[in-house]
Amino acid sequence: MAKTFDAVILSNEEVAEKIFRLTVDTPELAEISHAGQFVQVKISDDFTLRRPLGIASTANGKVKIFYRAVGRGTEILSTRRTGERLNILGALGNGYSDFGGKILLVGGGMGMAPLLCAAEKFSADVLIGGRTKEEVTFWQDEFRPHVEKFFITTDDGSYAKKGFVIDLLPEVFAAENYSAILTCGPEIMMRGVAKFAAEKNIPCEVSFEKRMACGLGACLSCSIDTVDGRKKVCKDGPIFDARKVFDYEPDNQNA
Ligand SMILES: Cc1cc2nc3c(=O)[nH]c(=O)nc-3n(C[C@H](O)[C@H](O)[C@H](O)COP(=O)(O)OP(=O)(O)OC[C@H]3O[C@@H](n4cnc5c(N)ncnc54)[C@H](O)[C@@H]3O)c2cc1C
Ligand code: FES
Repeated sequence: MAKTFDAVILSNEEVAEKIFRLTVDTPELAEISHAGQFVQVKISDDFTLRRPLGIASTANGKVKIFYRAVGRGTEILSTRRTGERLNILGALGNGYSDFGGKILLVGGGMGMAPLLCAAEKFSADVLIGGRTKEEVTFWQDEFRPHVEKFFITTDDGSYAKKGFVIDLLPEVFAAENYSAILTCGPEIMMRGVAKFAAEKNIPCEVSFEKRMACGLGACLSCSIDTVDGRKKVCKDGPIFDARKVFDYEPDNQNA
């Protein structure tokens, strides 16, 4: 059940260029949140629409959020200071499934945020993708206490392996039998990851982003087509079984 919380900001710091880590003191929200869920943040009274942001951590009664300052709302959010109060609606959406066994988390850019929460809750390794060294090393530090192994790619080759996460997947899978893949990031990346999972015949859940208004399933602004008909990303998602949202044909179903 979603509620609004008048949360005290514990910190709001820039961890890479234009990327901020916001920590709020909300034990009740931390308690009820599942990995993959999100919150709607009220930026200020000047904004009618709240902004959706993924829940990245619920450890120790605190909720952590990572956001990139991309527009007016997130720019203003980045100016909010420790001790101020922030109105937050959550926890929203469904959340990732618990598949048991060891899972692989595969993400790119800000898509790492909900996967960090999954790393806190499930036994997992992580494959992190980013554009540059600066955009992956803080994620490496965040994931380090929660995963056994991490694998990293950068688009420009400034750190770890040059290329995209999808290029590294076969190598990562050669060393371990994962029970499922959870992924979040650019749609083209998730599509590639989902195709790989289908070829390996293991479950894959993807996290969808759509522009949202109410965040509660009432306005239909976030609807997408799935094999089960129209679904609302905010209420039926943002986590979906990859086979329900991507219509590709795997190259080899039995690989
Ligand atoms: C379920 C969900 C979870 C999200 N989690 C995170 C997160 O953990 N960290 C994070 O940095 N961002 C996340 N986003 C995206 C975030 O909501 C937008 O970046 C933010 O609302 C932009 O607000 P703004 O006022 O700064 O930008 P605006 O001025 O509204 O827009 C600036 C730019 O951002 C794009 N944009 C706006 N909203 C979205 C959206 N919903 N999806 C994709 N692009 C958008 C616009 O098209 C435009 O190019 C999430 C979105 C959804 C739907
Ligand atoms: S944002 Fe209103 S129905 Fe999803």
